[in-house]
Amino acid sequence: MDVKSNITHKSCLNRTVDKVTCTGSYQVIERVQSYKVQYGSDPANWPLVEAKDSYDILINEFILKCKNQFSISYKHEEMCHCRTVPTEVVIQSIKQDCRTVKEISRHTKAGTGCGTCVPHLKVLLQEILNLQKIP
Ligand code: FES
Repeated sequence: MDVKSNITHKSCLNRTVDKVTCTGSYQVIERVQSYKVQYGSDPANWPLVEAKDSYDILINEFILKCKNQFSISYKHEEMCHCRTVPTEVVIQSIKQDCRTVKEISRHTKAGTGCGTCVPHLKVLLQEILNLQKIP
């Protein structure tokens, strides 16, 4: 099964039946090349790393997807109905730079209306950041 992880306008990792491809940031390409040399061509066999930046978060997400262990509990396409902010936009903001709900709101406008989505933003933020921790 094909697996894809990306950070919009920065980098994309893709696994098809026979290969892993990487485009975008030179930092990600270099890390993926290093993983292939060290751990082989199947990302399901790569170890998770302590996430120090967005690229580590991206690579860890990709590894978890390849292991079939990646999961986000919020399943709706739209996260914030007041500001019509798609869930994927919130996820991208977390994968890029946002590490608090306030930063997500500043970056995406999610959570700046009635506030109903704020608890969902908190859960999503924790899930994505916790997924990056070494088990
Ligand atoms: S649903 Fe997000 S602020 Fe109202």
